Amino acid sequence: MYNREEFQRAAEFIQSRISAQPSIGLVLGSGLGKLADELADRAVIPYADIPGWPRSTVVGHGGNLVVGELEGQIVAAQQGRAHFYEGYTLQEVTFPVRVMKELGIHSLLLTNAAGGVNPAYQVGDIMLLEDHINFLGLAGANPLMGPNDESLGLRFVGMSQTYDRPLRQRALEVAGEGGIPLHSGVYFGLSGPFFETPAEIRMIRALGGDAVGMSTVNEVLVARHGGLRVMACSGITNRAIDVVDTELETNHEEVLEAGAVIVPRLTTILKGVLSNFPT
Ligand code: HPA
Repeated sequence: MYNREEFQRAAEFIQSRISAQPSIGLVLGSGLGKLADELADRAVIPYADIPGWPRSTVVGHGGNLVVGELEGQIVAAQQGRAHFYEGYTLQEVTFPVRVMKELGIHSLLLTNAAGGVNPAYQVGDIMLLEDHINFLGLAGANPLMGPNDESLGLRFVGMSQTYDRPLRQRALEVAGEGGIPLHSGVYFGLSGPFFETPAEIRMIRALGGDAVGMSTVNEVLVARHGGLRVMACSGITNRAIDVVDTELETNHEEVLEAGAVIVPRLTTILKGVLSNFPT
């Protein structure tokens, strides 16, 4: 368990390395960190330098916090994130969200790579999260377990208005203007690191999941605990396999390869939202 001073210490360190105050946080998932290269006047702060900050060991996840200007907004972009399956606790996984909140951001925009469970989803499509199922979280593996610091947020967190409606509406407008296939759907959050069995995929579909992945839900939970506005997008990197006895097998390479079409699409969506950020 962390105490608030540890979040503040990390935030103070970041403050000492930047000149402009970020108001929006970005979390850039598998293969998506390149987006941070678009930030103007950027300060690049290696995670290793920030006290307490967890580092991703996964290929495709960079390891920097990049603070700079994008579409008229000062953003703090995480190039890569730590995951539960790497052996981090859920408090460690969500430490960056707490620090971003201490830095003064009001909104958090997250991206991830996910498998398409909904048969209508194609590789390269984007899914805007309108809701999620935190499968482990429901059973007690979530970062809000333990004593609650009331100065960070309430003990009991409402989750029915998690994915900010004006932000979603704006994203849908931007995608419509840009001809980007953007679905609204339910993200099913698991721990990984294994990809799901076909029977698990059929279960996830039956339970209402449209896309499946190994991140995001914990960060979103902590963001909502801290009162941040949240938007999240999944890049569909592969179609989840729902039958046995097939030649198909999901692998990390295809997840990274799909980034080539997903990155420009997510970049367009995020820039469009930032350039006309709904109040
Ligand atoms: N399952 C879980 N996580 C993922 C997948 C998947 O198929 N693709 C990318 N991340």
